[in-house]
Amino acid sequence: MQADIDRVLISRSQIADRVRELAERITADHSPPAMMDGEITIVPILTGAVIFCADLIRHMPLAMKIGLITVSSYPGTALRSQGAQLLGRQLGDIRGRHVLLVDDILDSGGTLRLVTPILRQLGPASVKTCVFLRKDRPAAREVHADYVGFDIPDQFVVGYGLDYDDYYRNLPEIVTLRPAAMGKSS
Ligand code: IMP
Ligand code: MG
Repeated sequence: MQADIDRVLISRSQIADRVRELAERITADHSPPAMMDGEITIVPILTGAVIFCADLIRHMPLAMKIGLITVSSYPGTALRSQGAQLLGRQLGDIRGRHVLLVDDILDSGGTLRLVTPILRQLGPASVKTCVFLRKDRPAAREVHADYVGFDIPDQFVVGYGLDYDDYYRNLPEIVTLRPAAMGKSS
């Protein structure tokens, strides 16, 4: 796996520092006086957001519940979105709750455009979005995200939850892959 890495874009310590900063901002925004009522439900979009979300919420000393939603847009070895598809959800009752959707990366924007209206229909007090990465491309900038970890160039990256063909999610850094690594499993 290490031999497949081309370049480290974001290191472990940069990730840890930024995740803590984001968590502190989100916590302040969901505590009095900024917010007086209603608990938060954190909704990581599976599978890519699980690692980021797990780190984020451990810096958030708030009463919270966790809901789950599964979306697929880069099936298998695809390197561009094939259209976001809702595969499942386990949200609990989010009526009157402040929902924070958490995703690994904002790329074409298809995932957030699909999921946000579905959640709004379920009667939450509010829906906000938090993405760990945002790609530098026009489509990504057209979709609003309330909290963004890092803006990155429009490149295919893996690690810290992001995959290629479901591999590399466990890498602790954000990296690009050698072209040879992306050819071999397709
Ligand atoms: P969007 O729906 O196109 O905004 O993209 C969101 C989803 O596409 C993410 O949650 C990822 O699962 C996947 N994705 C987008 N860019 C990358 C990438 O560079 N590497 C791995 N997965 C990606
Ligand atoms: Mg993915």
